[in-house]
Amino acid sequence: MCGIVGYAGHDKAGPILFDTLKRLEYRGYDSAGVAIISNGEIQVVKSAGRIEDLEKIYRDIGSPGENMGIGHTRWATHGPPTAVNAHPHVSDDVAVVHNGIIENYLALKEQLMRGGVEFRSETDTEVLAHLIGSCYRGDLAEAVASAVSLVEGSFAIAVMAKGSPRLVCARKESPLVIGVGEGANYVASDVSALLPYTRDVIRMKDDEIAIIDAETVTLRDVAGRSLPIDLERVDWDVDAAEKAGYPHFMLKEIYEQPRAIQETLASRTSEIDGEVRMDIGLTDLEIKSLDRFSIIACGTSYHAGLLAKYLYPKAAGLPVDIEVASEFQHLLLKPGTLLLSITQSGETADTLNAMKKASTFGVKRLAITNVVGSTVTNMVDGTIYTRCGPEIGVAATKTFTGQLVAMILLAIKLGRARNYLSYENARKMLVELARLPGQVQEVLDGRDVIREIAEEYAKNNQYFFIGRDFLYPIALEGALKMKEISYIPAEGYPAGELKHGPLALITDGTPVVALATHGKKIQANIKEVRARGADVIAFASEGDPDIPKIATTVVEIPGARPVFSSVLCTVALQLLAYYTADARGLPIDKPRNLAKSVTVE
Ligand code: G6P
Repeated sequence: MCGIVGYAGHDKAGPILFDTLKRLEYRGYDSAGVAIISNGEIQVVKSAGRIEDLEKIYRDIGSPGENMGIGHTRWATHGPPTAVNAHPHVSDDVAVVHNGIIENYLALKEQLMRGGVEFRSETDTEVLAHLIGSCYRGDLAEAVASAVSLVEGSFAIAVMAKGSPRLVCARKESPLVIGVGEGANYVASDVSALLPYTRDVIRMKDDEIAIIDAETVTLRDVAGRSLPIDLERVDWDVDAAEKAGYPHFMLKEIYEQPRAIQETLASRTSEIDGEVRMDIGLTDLEIKSLDRFSIIACGTSYHAGLLAKYLYPKAAGLPVDIEVASEFQHLLLKPGTLLLSITQSGETADTLNAMKKASTFGVKRLAITNVVGSTVTNMVDGTIYTRCGPEIGVAATKTFTGQLVAMILLAIKLGRARNYLSYENARKMLVELARLPGQVQEVLDGRDVIREIAEEYAKNNQYFFIGRDFLYPIALEGALKMKEISYIPAEGYPAGELKHGPLALITDGTPVVALATHGKKIQANIKEVRARGADVIAFASEGDPDIPKIATTVVEIPGARPVFSSVLCTVALQLLAYYTADARGLPIDKPRNLAKSVTVE
């Protein structure tokens, strides 16, 4: 996720670009850049770091006469957050800012390189700049239309060219809004950036191309046919707009999960040949010679790691050890071990210290993180990035499901390279994985049922979460989410363990969340707690004939194999925790005593 902006008007472009960019900083803040047209020439300023750093550089070179420009604030996905990789990207005559992922960028890049194009950055976006540049013969909209027809993936772009008096924008599956003002028009990834300037907006739709100057906005399709304009008046305040109308960042981030999963998968899977194409810094030979998989992580990331215990022995023939990072000293790593650290921030002190200690064992090290260039990435042989965009809510949501998906991709990759997972099974898993974003959306669409349950039990003073197998880590995560934001003591248990102690705490009306999408054994555990007065809120597969007969309430989850059910149940439990905390009137995005990134041991 990145933020893009554009301006065409009679005022100086720079200050407006910087102001709008700062309003989008929550979408990414690892590097930034602007391009302005001044005296017919494109001038580009880029830097790593925050927008304020860039603004200082710009002040020295910004020139009068500029009244059109584009800008970008980046959350890196392809290439580290350096000035070279920052947007805008340029070809000889064209400058582009982009939000999204170009899935076929490698193929396009090779093609352009064969034609003599030299690339400066590691980004997928630079491909777009050169493609548009190579199509540009004086009509920028025409060039953009030709270029985007060659592109697979998602994009929202704003483009300027030498000699073009207009900005051109296009979108597919990434948001883009045009603000219509008096003698000035604006572009931004979302409405929040535009509110100080105008409340009249056009939300661009997929495959539309917008042509913008100070006085006019026109829309066309890729074939050049003009399209009607749907002008909307926005009455949100700035705070609500930043959250895209959601009351909290956490809810917004829960809703971003279909997209975050899609982007984490993008260009990495081939359903046809059953392969996962992801560079993990290990050769196939090195992967074959592994005999153990060890994982360290903290908090929610630790729960993502727990999934490996169920996934990797079967999919990749690797036994798994996992330890919370602060207890790492007890893990003995032998040669042949692959050590994985999972950390959304890449900066958690406990995890980094454990990785430092692990370096003495001389084993191969890997990281799953959401932050390109974060400290952990410098301590490992390979990194798998989740592409979830920045997460603002302290309680991790989209980065957790992103981690689960990354773990699944890695399992398929290792399983195939070790000849442990058959081609047919890998292919089937990838086909089902591609369905996951849509199924997550179905869970989100069923939010009302979950909200009612949350409200009914919001006054309770304890909660239990039970699950077996793949769903046990999810029971732990569900309980953690509940504790973190609703402050209700909540325990996650393997369903079979209740009878060895916790059953003593079950009394009349105690809510027990049972993750019951798979397996018959959990039915006995549901009966066990019901017999002691508990209310069972069961998450069951759609159409399950048995669970409704024994649970107090049933929430239906789309049918999927257990490993994918873990993602779907997670989303339902995030909603349960969210609506519970909301009913209790708590500060959901900033729960007491907690921090998003913990950089002390
Ligand atoms: C903090 C956060 C948790 C997070 C944990 C690990 O405690 O509040 O939500 O799971 O750190 O963070 P990491 O960035 O390493 O995933």
